[in-house]
Amino acid sequence: MSLAAATVPTGAAGADGDVALRHLAVIMDGNGRWAQARRLPRVAGHRAGIEAVRRVVEAAPVLGIEVLTLYAFSAENWKRPADEVADLMGLLRHYIRSEIKELHRNGVRLQFIGDWRALKPDIVAMLDDARALTAGNDRLTLVVALNYGGQQELVRAARALAADVAAGVLAADAIDDAAIDARLDTAGLPPPDIVLRTSGEMRLSNFLLWQSAYAEFVVTETLWPDFDRAALESALAEFATRVRRFGGR
Ligand code: FPP
Repeated sequence: MSLAAATVPTGAAGADGDVALRHLAVIMDGNGRWAQARRLPRVAGHRAGIEAVRRVVEAAPVLGIEVLTLYAFSAENWKRPADEVADLMGLLRHYIRSEIKELHRNGVRLQFIGDWRALKPDIVAMLDDARALTAGNDRLTLVVALNYGGQQELVRAARALAADVAAGVLAADAIDDAAIDARLDTAGLPPPDIVLRTSGEMRLSNFLLWQSAYAEFVVTETLWPDFDRAALESALAEFATRVRRFGGR
């Protein structure tokens, strides 16, 4: 049994001071620097990043992770040059097309968060098909954040709450944490226990702002394209040393 599997029990999180791990959320950073260091175009870094996605999706359920969320394209990433945006969308198409059967065979349930329905219609159709195909799987829930921003998600939730209040189906003073949770893209998923960021930056970058209230932040120097099972096990081992108090003492 690996170190992480031995030290990071699965099951419900929340007991005072425990290190239960259900949900790992990852800010995959460093593709550009990886390519630059090799004098390659940025797309080569993103392509190598897909290989890291494959490795981590394979390792995650073996290490006891139930939910893996990957920040693949932020709502702010549209500001990148058009050719890089097109490359990222092309890689997303390629990933889904080439991996979906294998993901399904491996018991992976695919979900998407963010305003992914605003992507090109062929991608939206592909994502819808992938969700439908894998909806019954339960070995790993793979959540891909696409056109995602935490602030934008909260705005959508606020609008949904306002609409329910206006329609008379919700009293304003009945709005509580659970009412907000239920209107987020992540409704029904446990909150992240770890937010992991690769390549050394110490920023949340508009990722899971509400959901990560009590997440442990783990930053690794490894660039995302170099990330592998060993790097994941190191991150989980660091998490296992943390004492989680959830505001208690
Ligand atoms: C950050 O690196 C990474 C991204 C903006 C995209 C991440 C996307 C992938 C790994 C591929 C698509 C994923 C899936 C699940 C299909 P950066 O370019 O900001 O790196 P830098 O900070 O070194 O420039």
